[in-house]
Amino acid sequence: MADIITAVAPVNIAVIKYWGKRDEELILPLNDSLSATLDTNIMYAKTSVCARPDFATDEIWLNGKKESFESERLKNCLISIKKKAAAEKSVNNDFLSWKIRVCSENNFPTAAGLASSAAGYACLVTALAKLYKVNSDVSAIARLGSGSACRSIYGGFVQWCAGVDPQGVDSFATQIVDSSHWPEMRVLILVVADHKKKTSSTDGMKISVQTSELLKHRVQHIVPKRIDEIIDAIYDKNFSKFAEITMKDSNQFHAVCMDSYPPFSYLTDVSHTIIQLIHSYNKACGEVKVAYTFDAGPNACLYMLQSEVFVVISLLKHIFPSSNPEFVTGLTFIPEVPLSTEILQAIDIEPQATDLIKYVIHTKIGDGPSILSDGLHLLNEKGEPINIH
Ligand code: DP6
Repeated sequence: MADIITAVAPVNIAVIKYWGKRDEELILPLNDSLSATLDTNIMYAKTSVCARPDFATDEIWLNGKKESFESERLKNCLISIKKKAAAEKSVNNDFLSWKIRVCSENNFPTAAGLASSAAGYACLVTALAKLYKVNSDVSAIARLGSGSACRSIYGGFVQWCAGVDPQGVDSFATQIVDSSHWPEMRVLILVVADHKKKTSSTDGMKISVQTSELLKHRVQHIVPKRIDEIIDAIYDKNFSKFAEITMKDSNQFHAVCMDSYPPFSYLTDVSHTIIQLIHSYNKACGEVKVAYTFDAGPNACLYMLQSEVFVVISLLKHIFPSSNPEFVTGLTFIPEVPLSTEILQAIDIEPQATDLIKYVIHTKIGDGPSILSDGLHLLNEKGEPINIH
C-alpha cells in the first residue's frame, strides 16, 4: 500500500467568472477570474493513484465507474506532470514508464450539478505531483484538465491570471489571501431541483466567444477593473462591496449567455426567484448583506457573513418550503436573531411550491488540496478500486 497516494481537493466558486478561451487546447482564458476555495471538510474530491511495472494500461475509475483514459484533457495532465518530473529528475525513467491506476470520488452528488470537474482535476494533479515527486506549482497543469480547476490548487481567495503568452506559461493561479483572512465568510449552496438538459461550460463558452459582442466588452473593459476592485474589497473585508461586484459579475456572465447566438440560459425560474429574494432582503436590511452567484447551472451560491446565516436559512425555509428533514447539511449554525416580521413584510415574495430547492449545503472558505496520511485509499493493495458500483 505504501506506493498508493491519496489526495483530497476542494471545490471553488468564482466571484469573477471565467468565460471564454483564447486557446481551446491549452485551456487559456480570455480574462482573469477570481474565486473562493471551499472547505474540504464539507465538500471534496478524493483521488488515489499508483504506478506499477505490472500494470498493462493506464486505467481510471470515477465515482465507482470505469471510464476511458482516452480523454485528451486527462492524458494532457498526466503527460505534463511526467514531463515536469523528467525535467526536475525527481523520479527515474523506469518509474516514468510504468502505467498508472486512478480512482476518484466526490463526496457530493455529481448529479447535483455542482462544479465537480474543478475539484476532480485539482485532486488528480495533486496526487500525481506527489506520486512523481513534483514540488513546483501545478496549477497550470490542473488548468489543462478544466480551466477552473487551476483555482482549486490553492486555498482562500484565488486569482487565475489569464496571461498573454501563447503557450500559457503565464496562465496560472495565485493565492490572494489564505483561508484565515476572512474567517466570518460563509457560503450556502442552494441545490435547485432541475432536469433541464444543459449546454456544457466548454460548449457554451465556445458559442459566446464566436458570437457575443458583450463578451468582448466584458473582457476588455469590465473584468480588469472588477478584479482590482474585488481584491481591494477582500483585503479590506468590505462585504457590501464584495457582494455587489459578485452579483454584478454573475449577472453579466448570464447576460453573455443570452447575448450568444444561439442564446442559452442556465438560470431557471427558481434561480430568478432566488435573485429577486436576495435583492429584496438586502433592500429590507438597508444594506447589502448577501450575494448570489450562479455558474453554468441553476444552483445558487450565496456568500454572507456568519452573523447572517441563521436568518437567511430561516428566510429560505419560509419562501422555499421543503419536505426534506435534512434540508440544511454541512456546518452547524448557531440560532441567532430570528427573522423579524418587518423583514418578512418588506419582502414582496410569496412562499413558493414545496421542494423547489432540494437542499442547502452550508460551508465556509477553506484550504487547498492535501495528501491523506490516514491510509484511507480508494485503491486496494492490488491497485484495484475498493468501491465499484
Ligand atoms: C461558469 O472550468 O468547467 O464555472 O475549462 O472548458 O473545463 P473548461 O470549463 P470550466 O468552466 C467554468 C465556468 C464557470 C465560471 C468559473 O468557474 O469561473
